[in-house]
Amino acid sequence: MFPIRIRDLRYSPNGHAVLDGIDLELGGEGITLIMGPNGAGKSMLLRVLCGLVEPCGGNIDWGSGARPARGVMMVFQHPMMLRASVLANVALGLKPLRVTASKRRQQALAILDRIGLAHRADDSARQLSGGEQQRLALARAWLTRPRLLLLDEPTASLDPSASAEVERIIREIRTDGTRILMVTHNLGQATRMGDDIVFLSAGKVREHTLTQRFFARPQSVEARLFIQGELPWRMGF
Ligand SMILES: Nc1ncnc2c1ncn2[C@@H]1O[C@H](COP(=O)(O)OP(=O)(O)OP(=O)(O)O)[C@@H](O)[C@H]1O
Ligand SMILES: [Mg+2]
Repeated sequence: MFPIRIRDLRYSPNGHAVLDGIDLELGGEGITLIMGPNGAGKSMLLRVLCGLVEPCGGNIDWGSGARPARGVMMVFQHPMMLRASVLANVALGLKPLRVTASKRRQQALAILDRIGLAHRADDSARQLSGGEQQRLALARAWLTRPRLLLLDEPTASLDPSASAEVERIIREIRTDGTRILMVTHNLGQATRMGDDIVFLSAGKVREHTLTQRFFARPQSVEARLFIQGELPWRMGF
């Protein structure tokens, strides 16, 4: 599946170029962060990679050619919770994989333990806090052992301690061998978590470089203005 090679990817609903010729290559390891101002096309890029949106043009080469039927998972900023228990919501991720009900339960409980929510297994998932729901959504995706996990601002509305817990889980998922592509507006989080940074603005990749280098010596004018706070973005500290 890796490297994933994205060439001249375009998405232009109503003639407005949301993705305006994205070129990007993603190797098989680590955490790549996508940064950029509001409306840059970050979420849209994840949606296209996930297969939720069909691009208007360009090409994604998934290593072996076609997009793999399984192995790509996405977690949204506000994940959907079924009106069911925490355990049932996590186990849901395994349903398409034809795992027996007892194995689903066993594996779901084990992963709930790893994210510190085993004691809430029988509670209603919708009663969980935002941070807990985000952890549950990560666990639900993790359980399927994805090759690529797409995360859209997973800590955007969380307090610092909930964010730290989500960051810990994301690092564990990465250590488990999952490639992570994550959108964040949080510069602190970017320096803590990102191996490399893809900087998007107006539907184009302006820069793709190692995190340290991105902050020390941004190459593009857009990235420089963004880091200086002169391009619009949301505070996420
Ligand atoms: N279905 C759609 N039809 C038309 N335009 C859309 C559609 N979805 C998104 N857009 C537009 O595409 C642009 C990029 O949207 P996107 O959600 O990818 O931005 P973003 O970089 O994730 O921004 P943010 O930081 O605010 O989350 C925006 O101008 C948005 O209005
Ligand atoms: Mg977005």
